[in-house]
Amino acid sequence: GLPDSVRLVEVSPRDGLQNQQQILSPEQRVELIRRLQASGLTRIEAGSFVSAERVPAMRDTDQVLAALPAVPGVRYSVLTPNIKGLDAALQAGAGEVAVFTGASETFTRKNIQCSITDSLNRFAPVVDKAKEHNIPVRGYLSCTMGCPYEGEIPLTDVVTLATELFQMGCYEISLGDTIGTGNPARVQELINLLQPSIPLDALAVHFHDTYGQALTNIYAALNAGVRVIDSAVAGLGGCPYAKGASGNVATEDVLYLLNGLGIETGVDMDKLLEATRLLTSDYGYRNDSRVGQALLS
Ligand code: HMG
Ligand code: MG
Repeated sequence: GLPDSVRLVEVSPRDGLQNQQQILSPEQRVELIRRLQASGLTRIEAGSFVSAERVPAMRDTDQVLAALPAVPGVRYSVLTPNIKGLDAALQAGAGEVAVFTGASETFTRKNIQCSITDSLNRFAPVVDKAKEHNIPVRGYLSCTMGCPYEGEIPLTDVVTLATELFQMGCYEISLGDTIGTGNPARVQELINLLQPSIPLDALAVHFHDTYGQALTNIYAALNAGVRVIDSAVAGLGGCPYAKGASGNVATEDVLYLLNGLGIETGVDMDKLLEATRLLTSDYGYRNDSRVGQALLS
């Protein structure tokens, strides 16, 4: 059955902005995060500690973290692909970090310049060191519903890799549908296959809406017992290493669905739309949220 409550993980300040041509200043990114936080979101991805040459939009994530007010119960997280990234995150006071790899060998090489196996070997010391500092680590697995280069990835591979990330010490595994090719049957099958190696409350789903299937897939994931959903306000997003990947599922759209189902999130739609407004009216990004379009028009 459906859960009583769901935790939304807001990824717009990272996944939403990382691939935009228009790059925001740290101050503009901070204002976005402030509004997201004010809407009731408690888990917000604030940026990345990755190569600034490769992902210029995430430059100065340390300045973003430094300017964010500490709010009880709110956690700002950052991507940390290696020890260099983790050290920067610790220095900047991140409340959570995330490692990220893929279920596709080709995508992983393009994204983080190494094989899947090497990425896991790289993450192990990152997870260990984060734990020494009491920083929770999230694990992302990309291409769980398909790869832009390799097409369909066997579910058995996805299960093996997600399980390895969990056993390494990631407290939550975010199943990425990087290019939005998933369908509800595969979502349900994957989540079922992941039992019992990963408890349901340690699973999150991360859908991009390239093919317009994200909300349907989320509904399938909810029915399969998942209680953590990644999304980005205004449906902002796109991965630099997945050609054609459109935005993340829009937070407004997910919230509308959850409100309709009577599922608690702690997020206020009107306040969330203040973040939509900032991104679209003030910063000039496109509004890819259907609910945002309906309510702001
Ligand atoms: P590499 O070339 O193997 O690393 O890159 P390296 O150790 O050889 O270093 C190369 C250069 O990068 C050096 O600089 C390092 O200092 C620097 P140089 O000496 O040449 O001037 N460097 C770093 N700089 C800052 N922070 C760091 C860092 N590490 C090395 N942590 C690396 C490996 C992963 C760093 C690189 O390939 C990279 O940054 N890639 C970008 C990854 C990325 O951000 N991708 C997008 C996010 S993933 C995603 O969107 C999918 C997701 O949303 C889920 C889904 O939708 O599926 C999560
Ligand atoms: Mg993504």
